[in-house]
Order: sequence, then C-alpha cells, then structure tokens
Amino acid sequence: ALESMKGMLNKALKEGYAVGQFNINNLEWTQAILAAAQEEQSPVILGVSEGAARYMGGFKVVTAIVKSLIEEMKVTVPVAIHLDHGSSVDKCKQAIDAGFTSVMIDASHDPFEENVRITSEVVAYAHERGVSVEAELGTVGGQEDDVVADGVIYADPKECKELVERTGIDCLAPALGSVHGPYKGEPKLGFKEMEEICQTIQLPLVLHGGTGIPTEQIKKSVSLGTAKINVNTENQIAFTKAARAALAADAEVYDPRKFITPGREAIKATVIGKIREFGSSNKA
Ligand code: G3H
Ligand code: ZN
Repeated sequence: ALESMKGMLNKALKEGYAVGQFNINNLEWTQAILAAAQEEQSPVILGVSEGAARYMGGFKVVTAIVKSLIEEMKVTVPVAIHLDHGSSVDKCKQAIDAGFTSVMIDASHDPFEENVRITSEVVAYAHERGVSVEAELGTVGGQEDDVVADGVIYADPKECKELVERTGIDCLAPALGSVHGPYKGEPKLGFKEMEEICQTIQLPLVLHGGTGIPTEQIKKSVSLGTAKINVNTENQIAFTKAARAALAADAEVYDPRKFITPGREAIKATVIGKIREFGSSNKA
C-alpha cells in the first residue's frame, strides 16, 4: 500500500534497520523493485529524480505506473513514492499534487537561512497533505542527473539541530562523506558526526550515495541512526551489465524484451541483496 515515509522510517529507527530507497527510471525498474520488496516482505521507497520523472513523461505518469503496478502485482508491503533531490518548492508541490507520498527538498547548496526558509515552505504544504519531507545539509559528492557537486562538505551538527527545530522535517540527510556514483577508493563516512547528529535531532537519518559502501560501513551507519539508504547507480550497473551480456550473446536479437528482461531480473536480485543487507526483510 502507498504511504508516506514517516511511519516506515520511525519504525526502522526504533527497531534498528534501514529502508532502501531505490531509484526508478521506467516500468521495468518499478516492476523489479516492487517484486523484490514484496518477496522480501520489506517496506520500500521508490526514489524519483527530477531527471527520471522527465524521462518517464512527468510526475503523473510516475504515480500512475506505480499505483497500477501495486494493484496488478498485489503488492501489500508499504511503498512510498519519493521525489529525490527536489530542486525547488514548486517541484515539490507538483510532485505532491501528482500523488507522490514523500518529497526531498534539496536546498543544501543554498545558504543556511535560505535552506530553512525553502524547507519550511515545503513542510507546510506537504504535512497538510500527509506527505513526508526529507531535507539535506552539507554536500554529497559526485553527480546524479542534475545534481552535481564539486566537492564533499560535511554537515554541521549544530545546523542540523537548528534546521530540524525550525522546519519540522521528518528525516534528514546530513552529507557525511558519501558520494553519488562509484567511489574512488574506500568511502570515509563521518561516523562521529552521524552519531552526534542522530542523538541530538532524534530523527531518522538518510544516507545518500549507497552504491559501493562496504557492508561494515552500512551496518555501522544503521547502528548509529541511519534509517534510509539511497541506492541508484548499483541497479543501473546491474541492469546494463545483464542487458549487454544478452545482446553480446545473440547478435541477431532485435526484440527488446529479450535483453530488457535479464536486466530487470538483475535489478530484482540486486534489490533483494540490499534489502537483506539493510535488515528490512520481514519488516513490512
Ligand atoms: O539520491 C540517490 C542516491 O543518493 C543514490 O546514490 O547512485 O551512488 O547509489 P548512488
Ligand atoms: Zn542522493
């Protein structure tokens, strides 16, 4: 069933596991992730970047696909449709009006006061409609669609506390050394800050850039209050590898289903692995 992230993340924080946000790009991505979550009896967050929403034909197309699949596939586990890295108040409102159950407002590149103002405006609109809100502080490295960073800036715990108190957000993504896309070397996550921030704000923390983080660091993050982990690139790599292998195996193939199906299977297997790693199996 479709719901906001609030209940699922508060439960995850309390019980010591994380819910995966898996980004979707099209019908097959959505099928694979929903099938994996249902099979694992896990709550799941479908992440939709503004770029992915454009690619899929708009926010309304996204919600229509997700809602029909939930019905046709008889999905009973909690599912959230979440705007990933919302770039403005307007975009967040559009996603909410189209039926998204959760939004992230990413004003992390703005000065702090501006971040507070923009985030508060989104919270007011979202909460009136039962929609959950994630905000960000600091800078996640790397690049994802329209979100490009030229470095990594760690979130300041004092600012985290103030942002939470002044905006009323449901969860916070403090950038603590994670990167969108593949890591160059081992990630160096700021565990000390992670612990401090979670203790002071008493809210679920979100870890962006979930691709390529070693299992021990995932487990440690979860034990320190990370209740949501975002994964995108890893599914893209899995899909493309399987599709490429299917194309290479048969030079005559022209039916797209013949190489998209193995890609879809690869996403499902990847998501099942992540759900087990995050500890959210049988938590629906
Ligand atoms: O917002 C989405 C994520 O932070 C995904 O990061 O592509 O490195 O897994 P990733
Ligand atoms: Zn992200």
